[in-house]
Amino acid sequence: MGENFESVQAFYCSGLKGELFVPGDKSISHRALIIGGLTIGETIANGLLESEDVICTANAIKALGAKVVRKKPGLWSIKGVGIGGFSQPDNVIDCGNSGTSVRLLMGTVSTCSMNVTFTGDHSLRKRPMDRILIPLSKFGASFSTYADSKLPIHISGSEEAIPISYELPVPSAQVKSAILLGGLNVRGRTTVIETEATRDHTEKMLKAFGANILIEKNANCSKISVDGFPTLRPVEIKVPGDISSASFPIAAACMVPGSKILIRDVGVNPLRDGFLISLIEMGADIEIINKRQSAGELVADIQVTYTPNLKGIEVPENRAAKMIDEYPILSMVAATAKGSTTMKGVSELRFKESNRIEAIAKGLMDSGVEVKVGEDMLIVNGVSSKNFEGGSEIDASNDHRIAMAFICLGLVSKKSITVHGTQSIQTSFPNFVVLMNSIGAVLKV
Ligand code: S3P
Repeated sequence: MGENFESVQAFYCSGLKGELFVPGDKSISHRALIIGGLTIGETIANGLLESEDVICTANAIKALGAKVVRKKPGLWSIKGVGIGGFSQPDNVIDCGNSGTSVRLLMGTVSTCSMNVTFTGDHSLRKRPMDRILIPLSKFGASFSTYADSKLPIHISGSEEAIPISYELPVPSAQVKSAILLGGLNVRGRTTVIETEATRDHTEKMLKAFGANILIEKNANCSKISVDGFPTLRPVEIKVPGDISSASFPIAAACMVPGSKILIRDVGVNPLRDGFLISLIEMGADIEIINKRQSAGELVADIQVTYTPNLKGIEVPENRAAKMIDEYPILSMVAATAKGSTTMKGVSELRFKESNRIEAIAKGLMDSGVEVKVGEDMLIVNGVSSKNFEGGSEIDASNDHRIAMAFICLGLVSKKSITVHGTQSIQTSFPNFVVLMNSIGAVLKV
């Protein structure tokens, strides 16, 4: 696939410059494959992310009976089997490192009369799955697990699923999506209630394919409903650049003096824009230009010009869902800013590809930054980029976003930062090192 390096050493560099594209959005790519797999006819996905996580979903959809073909780089054809048309796979479905794959797929098969065993890598087998098993068992699905509701999980989909209404106890687009996808194969209306809005790619894409999606909002919550057994019609999907991947060159350009970059065609869905809002509050010079709608998603070009003296901010709790994957890289910008940055409402970071609160805190403290950790809060005391010492060796704990975040920090450190365990970058951003070096970063593998 892409680059596969065990370690990356990042050196101080003198300004990132140029125009670039980042790879396709991971969340939208997973959904294109799954919803395409449930549609009769050929769905074409253009700009699909070709990373390990997304390939896990593609392989799973094939194992369940859909025809998935890579026509050219980034251009994929999915010939689906229709709602309820998935067939019993003849092997375990291994979702590798991908929480999105396993949770969305478990949701999809939970209302199909079949038995499937899901597993994943060392990290995924440690992540909580009860958040998915509780609502899916209300459909009538049953599960057996080894221990503590963790993978491997054997699921027996419900033969006569009943529609459910479920209020999410933690904000999670993965859980919401699992329920909505399960609801497709249920007679009647399935509803998810969220008190904190999470990314809405599933509902948007289902609507574009012809499903009846109803959204009711009031002051306290949103109710998202899907009617079972819609006729899904294939739609050509144009996958925008992933804002979560773009966050790394964006942050690097904010930290490295003399930088000016333009990232084209990035998805700027308002439920994913918390990182940009936070950087602008810190004083970053970020312009979001040429905003347009593309296949139902808001897309724009993002220009970042280095500006000195970024300052620490308070990131409120209600922004967490809109930037849940961007706290590692925001913490690096905070470390190089003036004053302290307080991030509230971050407890979900403990349940990602690694315990990200621990990984951020340990890596920053090893790099000479003062960090305070609370149950639901992270405080980083910035040292300003001019004084950033670095010189640390970071273990990325097999977590792609921790790896890329500390690599970006190395670009502004007096002494280089070496990050180990960088193979994990393959899960979301296969050409990261080459792309960063093409705009002036100094990364050695
Ligand atoms: C995702 C949702 C988020 C995010 C993950 C992708 C998705 O997880 O962290 O990287 O595609 O739905 P949660 O919904 O569990 O917060």
